[in-house]
Amino acid sequence: SKKAVLGPLVGAVDQGTSSTRFLVFNSKTAELLSHHQVEIKQEFPREGWVEQDPKEILQSVYECIEKTCEKLGQLNIDISNIKAIGVSNQRETTVVWDKLTGEPLYNAVVWLDLRTQSTVESLSKRIPGNNNFVKSKTGLPLSTYFSAVKLRWLLDNVRKVQKAVEEDRALFGTIDSWLIWSLTGGASGGVHCTDVTNASRTMLFNIHSLEWDKELCEFFEIPMKILPNVRSSSEIYGLMKAGALEGVPISGCLGDQSAALVGQMCFQDGQAKNTYGTGCFLLCNTGRKCVFSEHGLLTTVAYKLGRDKPVYYALEGSVAIAGAVIRWLRDNLGIIKSSEEIEKLAKEVGTSYGCYFVPAFSGLYAPYWEPSARGIICGLTQFTNKCHIAFAALEAVCFQTREILDAMNRDCGIPLSHLQVDGGMTNNKILMQLQADILYIPVVKPSMPETTALGAAMAAGAAEGVGVWSLEPEDLSAVTMERFEPQINAEVIFFSEGTRKD
Ligand code: G3P
Repeated sequence: SKKAVLGPLVGAVDQGTSSTRFLVFNSKTAELLSHHQVEIKQEFPREGWVEQDPKEILQSVYECIEKTCEKLGQLNIDISNIKAIGVSNQRETTVVWDKLTGEPLYNAVVWLDLRTQSTVESLSKRIPGNNNFVKSKTGLPLSTYFSAVKLRWLLDNVRKVQKAVEEDRALFGTIDSWLIWSLTGGASGGVHCTDVTNASRTMLFNIHSLEWDKELCEFFEIPMKILPNVRSSSEIYGLMKAGALEGVPISGCLGDQSAALVGQMCFQDGQAKNTYGTGCFLLCNTGRKCVFSEHGLLTTVAYKLGRDKPVYYALEGSVAIAGAVIRWLRDNLGIIKSSEEIEKLAKEVGTSYGCYFVPAFSGLYAPYWEPSARGIICGLTQFTNKCHIAFAALEAVCFQTREILDAMNRDCGIPLSHLQVDGGMTNNKILMQLQADILYIPVVKPSMPETTALGAAMAAGAAEGVGVWSLEPEDLSAVTMERFEPQINAEVIFFSEGTRKD
């Protein structure tokens, strides 16, 4: 049978901490045509350590691409219409591999991993000049969260990594680099690159000059020869070397939070989005200016959509644990069998009944940056049951966002009038209503919550030499919005400090 032709399509890999997805969009309407998702294992070899298998991650990408292409075939859509592929990824997660064999030399050290706490403590004592040395160049506090210290740990502790560096066989990369290198040919000609947004999360990248910073590399004792080339977020990096999409250019690359900012069309100064994934990340576009936070937020590269295009910056509030708390309730406490069940449990009670959950499993990120913090569930009585704990877990996600929003409002001076949200958890209506109530501003969610993948697809489709996506608002005509208005009892007033007065 003849397959329908829809015009140019663009695919996007969204490699998150919890799962990998491949999605295919119609570049004319932003309509999602088909997708496939695979959950990714996380290993916790010791308390505070979080690792993933880079080969499983790569395999999951191939599997998602193949399955999505099969599904498109069933829909009578010709996959030769896929003109470009974008990559968005969990950021900071660190991989070192052998460029001759293509083999990873250790597991990926995941962004949430806390093993570098003592490295961070000893480095903090040695910061040259003033305490702003790292922050003024990178926009980041010296923290376990970012790649430089993870890479330092690998260089100090893994013999295979040390040997490969000595023998000039080692390559370092965040997940985007690992994937693009592998997908474009790996040991036989793979392209070793990253984009400015991912580079800005390594703590080795100067966000003003947009280059690897020699002084930072000296401070962290990182050999610059193992670092990838830094490119813009929208240009052709290379072609797919295998699989159903062999020959298709990979032409978009953005850290997942930047991708979501693009997918939400937050291109103006002051526009912000909050993505609920494994963690929760609120980014506010600050335009061409690097704004430094006074309230515990990060300064990061938002995007640079083309080699000759300007760079845009964002203020970011990072929350380490959001969706991860639901996975923890499923895998560690076993009170739900699937993540979706959380909504049903929470709905049964409609209140936490005084139970509070602080899921500081990996310390606390913004605005505290306290790696030694740990989680707590309190306010338990004999009346408390799993439904209340489920509700408290959802509230915890909302309260953390509230803290970030307060910090953002203080830094920006102009409070956000509404919050644009996306990510898997936004399908949970109770969570969305709670969020609107706790922020006391409307929460606005696109009907298609896969905004991260959409942003990566847009960057790929807009790249020079591809040119099938114009990044104009009408190109998102398939996206409609759902609004959640605050419905909280008028007597309950939230003050900006986050305290509640009845
Ligand atoms: O900085 C970490 C972030 O990029 C992870 O995103 O979607 O896995 O929560 P996600």
